[in-house]
Amino acid sequence: MATRIPDISAAATLDAAAPFQRQNDVLHCEDVPLPELVARWGTPLYVYSRGAVRRRYHELDEALSPVPHLIAYSVKANPNLALLRTLAEMGAGADVVSGGELRRARMAGIPGERIVFSGVGKTINELALGLNEEIYAFNVESEGELCALSDLACAMGKKAPVAIRINPDIDSPTPHHYTRTGHAATKFGIAAARARDLYSIAARLQGIRVLGIDVHIGSQILDVAPFGLALDAILELVHKLKQEDIPLEFLDLGGGLGISYQGEPAATAQAFADAVVPLVAETGLRLVVEPGRYIVGEAGVLLTRVIYVKEGGGKRFVITDAGMNDLIRPSHYSGWHAVEPVESHDRPLGTVDIVGPICETGDFLALDREIEIPKPGELLAIHTVGAYGFSMSSQYNQRPRPAEVLVDGETATLVRRRETFEDLVAAEVGL
Ligand code: LLP
Repeated sequence: MATRIPDISAAATLDAAAPFQRQNDVLHCEDVPLPELVARWGTPLYVYSRGAVRRRYHELDEALSPVPHLIAYSVKANPNLALLRTLAEMGAGADVVSGGELRRARMAGIPGERIVFSGVGKTINELALGLNEEIYAFNVESEGELCALSDLACAMGKKAPVAIRINPDIDSPTPHHYTRTGHAATKFGIAAARARDLYSIAARLQGIRVLGIDVHIGSQILDVAPFGLALDAILELVHKLKQEDIPLEFLDLGGGLGISYQGEPAATAQAFADAVVPLVAETGLRLVVEPGRYIVGEAGVLLTRVIYVKEGGGKRFVITDAGMNDLIRPSHYSGWHAVEPVESHDRPLGTVDIVGPICETGDFLALDREIEIPKPGELLAIHTVGAYGFSMSSQYNQRPRPAEVLVDGETATLVRRRETFEDLVAAEVGL
């Protein structure tokens, strides 16, 4: 089946609605000067713009409006309850991959009927939690999972709503191979040919109600073409299932819509919708999408203070109080994040490595970066960290995780306090 592939258009990055702008040389989040937030809550500090999150959700919701749809925000991108609550109020659902994410989504007021449960390794306890919360669907990834879910549902006197995740064998162009999930050699999904058998099995299982079909090909995809390919791959199966009298209710295209980290063109919500909505409309199915990064990525900065500046080995190192435990994307995926001083002093530019205090050479936030050379004590902002920033942070080197602040216009609210030493040792027993 042919797919219409529109051109990608440049994402609006620094428009009037951009969440982080300079006023009188000082970087602000919406209407709040960032140094004020640091004065109250210290560094390292994650700061999110509520307006930016709402705008992104709204854009996608509008673009998909020609078809019945559910935007199931992918909680893993940023599971902060205040952000989840913001999205819940706008009508968002959630894509969860663990019992913890499911409980957070429910806690934030996202009803079970708007939750899809993804992941290759859901445990019996997690499946039971999903059944108890009466979630919209389990995106099933193996025959083993399907049978376990059916048995459990029967024992609980329920029928489990199920979609089967198809592996369309597409090598999606993501910046790092760790985030490509649509090709045959990954652990994800079930090959389309095999999936047909699995649907027949599912249709006969007592505890299963076949409801949908699911695909997720990767993360940080800047062009809409791969989504069209993924859709093509599953539409064929949708038609075959219809002929076999296994009708579906929804089609889940997963997440993966990319954002601009370095000013590179990124597909807009409208371009994405143009590529998929006409084909989905033909099927009459409800469209589910699971965006994470697209919704929250550009809405966050990490603020860090420079501790020391030193030179050696032909390099200039700017050593900050944030490290790879606070933001792992640069070292884990070679992720590139723009860095700038919070207060600009119009100093000469120089090339620096911005590194953390952790005892690993891989502990860096930016390498060979040309910025105004900062002085110890100054603040830096690391951009585009709203997704997979805090959510991938750890306490490595016994570093309490940063605080998180949500800004809405002129109001800043602490939405997660900084961890303390007591938090670091709280779970240890038998001392
Ligand atoms: N749905 C499923 C089944 C997923 O596995 C993911 C992401 C998403 C939705 C959301 O993808 P998004 O819209 O955010 O691209 N830590 C990496 C990204 C890992 C993505 C894992 N799965 C990074 O920092 O780039």
